[in-house]
Amino acid sequence: MFTLHGIEHRYDGAVALVVPTWEALRGERWLLAGPSGSGKSTLLGVLAGLLRPTSGTVTVGDQDLSQRSGPELDRWRGRHVGYVPQRLHLVASLSVLENLLLAPYLAGASIERPAAESLLARVGVGELAARLPETLSQGQAQRVAIARAVINRPLLLLADEPTAALDDAHAAQAIALLTEQADAVGATLVVASHDARISGAFPHTYVLPGS
Ligand SMILES: Nc1ncnc2c1ncn2[C@@H]1O[C@H](COP(=O)(O)OP(=O)(O)OP(=O)(O)O)[C@@H](O)[C@H]1O
Ligand SMILES: [Mg+2]
Repeated sequence: MFTLHGIEHRYDGAVALVVPTWEALRGERWLLAGPSGSGKSTLLGVLAGLLRPTSGTVTVGDQDLSQRSGPELDRWRGRHVGYVPQRLHLVASLSVLENLLLAPYLAGASIERPAAESLLARVGVGELAARLPETLSQGQAQRVAIARAVINRPLLLLADEPTAALDDAHAAQAIALLTEQADAVGATLVVASHDARISGAFPHTYVLPGS
C-alpha cells in the first residue's frame, strides 16, 4: 500500500527523520512508535503528502508522491488520505454535521447528507449533528474527527497521538473506533503514539529511534 525508501527529512539543516525502508500492505494496522522528537509527526506528514522529505521516495497506492505538485497533491490527499491530527481542527463556526460534510466538499466528492448522518451515528455521536464543536467533550470531538477522516473512504488512515489526552477506557475506545473504521473502508491504518497502553491493538510496529 505504501513504500518508503531512503527517507531523510531536515528542518533548517537539522536531521529530524530517518527511515531507511518501510513497507505496509493494504489493510494492515501499524503503530508508529518512538520517543518524543523522534519524528513521528514528521513521518505522518510525509505519508500524507503534506511534507516533501529532503531525500528519499514515497509511494502511496500507485502514486509516487515526489512526482506530484501542490494542487494535484491536495486533490489526491483529499480523496485518499484520512488524517486525524493531534489538535482536531474542527471548524468552530460550523455544526458537527457541517464539519463532516466539509471533507468531501473540499475533495470535490459528493456525499449525501443522510450518509454523513449515518456515519456520525456509527461513530457514536449521531445525536450531536447540530451541535457546535466547542460544546463537545474531547472524546466526542475526536469521534467527529475520526468520522471526518474516513468519510471519503481513504486508502490510508493516519492518526497522530489519538489517545494522549484520554483515560484508559476512552483510549481503548478511540483505538477500537479507528481500527473498526479503517476496516470498514479497507484502509491501511497508521497510528503515531508513544502510549504503551495501546500497543496490543497493532499487529505491526515501526519504531523510530530517539536521538
Ligand atoms: N516545523 C519545524 N521546524 C523545525 N524543527 C521541527 C519542526 N517540526 C518538528 N521539528 C523537529 O523535528 C524533530 C521531530 O519532530 P516531530 O514532531 O516529528 O517528533 P514526534 O516524534 O512527533 O514528537 P512527539 O512525540 O513529541 O509528538 C524534533 O526535533 C522537532 O523539534
Ligand atoms: Mg508528534
